[in-house]
Amino acid sequence: MPLSFTPLHPVFVAEVRGVDLRTVPDAETLQRIHLGMQQYGVLVFPDQPIDDDQQMAFARALGPLEPTRAVVQAHKHRLKHAEMADLSNLDVDGSLLPPDDARRMFNLGNRLWHSDSSFKATPALYSMLHARVIPDVGGDTEFADMRAAWDALPESTQARLRGLVARHSLLYSRAQLGFSGFSEAEREQFAPVPQRLVRRVPGSNRLSLYLSSHIGAVDGMPVPEAMAMVRDLIEHATQRQFVYRHVWRVHDLVMWDNRATMHRARAFEDNRQPRDMRRATLQDAAPTLEQPA
Ligand code: OGA
Ligand code: MN
Repeated sequence: MPLSFTPLHPVFVAEVRGVDLRTVPDAETLQRIHLGMQQYGVLVFPDQPIDDDQQMAFARALGPLEPTRAVVQAHKHRLKHAEMADLSNLDVDGSLLPPDDARRMFNLGNRLWHSDSSFKATPALYSMLHARVIPDVGGDTEFADMRAAWDALPESTQARLRGLVARHSLLYSRAQLGFSGFSEAEREQFAPVPQRLVRRVPGSNRLSLYLSSHIGAVDGMPVPEAMAMVRDLIEHATQRQFVYRHVWRVHDLVMWDNRATMHRARAFEDNRQPRDMRRATLQDAAPTLEQPA
């Protein structure tokens, strides 16, 4: 079956058929996947019964992996690969995380709109999330197109935003959900990093709003003014016409470009049902300030 892209939304997202990810695709197919990402920002690969090794091999074939996961406290990693992010609600023995477990609290941060690893100096490029076990109800993931959101802003607003630099930290997004009392080590590890608020996505050459709940300040603005502006922008960028909701099927692999989209997890009964999702993540080329505006 030849490789095909079928749009799933008026402005972004396509479904990809005609590729079997159990083996690494050839160079031409990989190139077409990169081009598909450039155009659609989010690609859905249905019916891919891959294991961790196959998922990591596919990711590595597309580009350099993000070297480390963000962790709050040292816990034994449930998965075989240190670089693979565990998006599940499961403990190392496969049982559900207790309601007050620090890892569960940490994962709740994914319910806020964000771009992966925007709190790292060099943030994430593509994320590839694979569904192994899904709950009966809920646990969808929503995506928003930050290029379409940028295009829809009035020119006067665009002019005001160009050149602005935002500060991103995991501490800021966690604080939004009421976490406090960060340790000195956490404050150091998650010290805010600067990122452009408006960025150019190479390839498509489109401009994109680089928003994330990890933002806690904008250079040159009083914090309340900056945060009121960021709230307005996130509200603008996540209007329904820019949002695609993915309802998971087992063995879906969904890949998104963190430069061009935001996403968030939706609720489910995570104290009653397992949800096992695993993510491979590519690293962007450089901090956004070192990339062409
Ligand atoms: C992620 C993420 C949301 C979800 O994998 O980076 O935010 O629905 N996932 O699990
Ligand atoms: Mn995420």
